[in-house]
Amino acid sequence: MMRSDSLTVLAPGRVNLLGEHVDYNGGVVLPAAIDRYVTLKAAPIRERQVRLTALDLGETVAFHLDRLDDRLDADGRPLPAWAIYPAGVAWAAARRGLPISGCEGEYSSSVPIGGGLSSSAAVETAFAALWRTFGGWQMDNLELARLCQEAENQYAGVNCGLMDQFASANGVEDSLLWFDTRSLEWRALPLPRDIRIVIADSSVRRSLAASAYNDRRAACEQALRILRGPLPQIRDLRDVSPAEFERHQDLLPKIPRKRARHVVYECDRVENAVKALETGDSETFGQLMFRCHSSLRDDYEVSCPELDALVNIAAELPGCLGARLTGAGFGGCTVNLVKADQAQDFAAQLRQRYQQVSGKKAEVYLCRASAGVRVRPSGE
Ligand code: GLA
Repeated sequence: MMRSDSLTVLAPGRVNLLGEHVDYNGGVVLPAAIDRYVTLKAAPIRERQVRLTALDLGETVAFHLDRLDDRLDADGRPLPAWAIYPAGVAWAAARRGLPISGCEGEYSSSVPIGGGLSSSAAVETAFAALWRTFGGWQMDNLELARLCQEAENQYAGVNCGLMDQFASANGVEDSLLWFDTRSLEWRALPLPRDIRIVIADSSVRRSLAASAYNDRRAACEQALRILRGPLPQIRDLRDVSPAEFERHQDLLPKIPRKRARHVVYECDRVENAVKALETGDSETFGQLMFRCHSSLRDDYEVSCPELDALVNIAAELPGCLGARLTGAGFGGCTVNLVKADQAQDFAAQLRQRYQQVSGKKAEVYLCRASAGVRVRPSGE
């Protein structure tokens, strides 16, 4: 049954091309929203309740909008993990005094769960956009992303930066997003027509990813505190140049030193990558992606053998300009930059060789950079 006041929200996942693990260090990131979506259909109801079905899981939950702090469902049981995201968005909105309507709906997702493509951010932006429309909030997509980040940080307990929610909310077709996570300035960078983005899902998932992620962030904060001794003007690791890092790195204990080295050089790579993109030099952009992967593997230590295998195989295939793990790491996906006319063959070969090498199946597909979250009446 389709109610006339039902809305359909489409919220994309994202892939990050460069600028990994810098969004909580004040850096610039280069993600794109992708053509994989959370699709949410919902209608307002009079009760102060949210009644939801996660179609992919075949599960239903109901929770009360006035008892969000408890993290319990309407029958007093702990909320299932998937419901923490919509509940967190409602919680963050309530804290700002925004009107939130009870609703009844269902959603499904073509963004793989836990695959580094921001499945949770897509769920958050979908619900935030839904409640923004129902409640008539005056809020732009950047602020919407911040609200979703608050939900993730303070309700779901993952201390993430703003990149994922930003990309899901603000995506631009056929473009990368240049996003300065400190000043919050951003612009779209059109992707050259002769290259394609190919995503490869290693099918590996790591259960402790959230705590490992929070550990990385803590190590960066420790490095920042120490480097402020000789460099009192720095606000974030982003402000440390490679030369300054080399000069002062001996002050840092081993682990924070490795983490900071990744961040400092990654910020530098982003700068060079943007210049390369602006002059149509996709080769250089791709080389910087390979370097990013090595740094994530050796210094940030967020890769795994399967992701390394995908990158190593990709590097040998015709048409491949660059490859690296994307997102937080600890399993999940790689992103590949491939010449457009060779992208289909590349995907087929990567799939085949990965299975030979790892014994595992990778889903490999060409993706398009897409627009950010959209809301429309369900009948249309
Ligand atoms: C996760 C987080 C982002 C970002 C990336 C790593 O996706 O949600 O904020 O830190 O990891 O770049």
